[in-house]
Amino acid sequence: MAVPMGMRLAGKTALVTGAGQGLGAAIAARFAEEGAAVFLGDCNAGTGKEAAAGIVAKGGRAFFVSLDVTNEESWVAALAEAEKETGRLDILVNNAGINIREPIETMKAENFDAMLAVNVKGPFLGIKHAIAVFKRCGGGVIINMSSVCGLVGHRYTTEAYTVTKGALTLLTKTVAVRHAAANIRCNSLHPSTVDTPLMRELFKNPDRRAERLGEVPLGRLASAEDVANAALFLASDEASFINGVALPVDGGTSAD
Ligand SMILES: NC(=O)c1ccc[n+]([C@@H]2O[C@H](COP(=O)([O-])OP(=O)(O)OC[C@H]3O[C@@H](n4cnc5c(N)ncnc54)[C@H](O)[C@@H]3O)[C@@H](O)[C@H]2O)c1
Repeated sequence: MAVPMGMRLAGKTALVTGAGQGLGAAIAARFAEEGAAVFLGDCNAGTGKEAAAGIVAKGGRAFFVSLDVTNEESWVAALAEAEKETGRLDILVNNAGINIREPIETMKAENFDAMLAVNVKGPFLGIKHAIAVFKRCGGGVIINMSSVCGLVGHRYTTEAYTVTKGALTLLTKTVAVRHAAANIRCNSLHPSTVDTPLMRELFKNPDRRAERLGEVPLGRLASAEDVANAALFLASDEASFINGVALPVDGGTSAD
């Protein structure tokens, strides 16, 4: 029997990291529209609270939770808060990520470490502590936000970022294989360039814009909603047999 729209995540609790803005905020909003209680984890309390309030104003169930994904104690506290409030956790979206755009020749070692800490150690710690909560709840879903750069070498993206996103691709598959017996599914999303305010700034330079549009067979940038809808599908029971998948949301970029 088909599940009616608006109920695809009814009764479920989700924690989305980096949800104060951008893709994380779009995913949190989409999940709430489909009936989930959503915890918006972010190290920026200002944007995080604002994004949560925006969802609540539209009738959704949303909570800001202070979270620095690089800090293990912060993860333990955030997961405990979600479980205490709703009695469960069903979905973890490891979305928080940073990109310090320096080529390898000039990249400072401390900046490389900072990117590894947010983009790889963050999801690693989140999964480490979410597994125990998922087991108490009879299972769970993990979605890791990689990138098209976590699938193929990308001429417009610097080396450090691709290292972190590639690591996430295989962290996903390992968790998928090792924890499926506990009814935990783990998949990754791989967007191409998303039309965000930051990117619009970059695209004031027509050469940069032409480069990015030229690589997408569908001829447009991804929208935050494109990515949020893919996350929704992976989070929902409609994807109950989808595990260990690296799903591009890239208009065919990585197929070219
Ligand atoms: N925007 C794109 O074109 C694109 C394409 C492919 C993949 N991605 C990936 O999607 C994810 C989201 O991208 P975005 O463009 O929405 O980013 P963004 O910079 O707009 O938002 C990132 C959010 O993460 C939060 N954050 C940063 N460090 C954190 C930490 N230590 N702990 C908790 N929160 C932290 C920030 O406060 C911010 O709210 C990232 O992982 C990014 O690499 C983005």
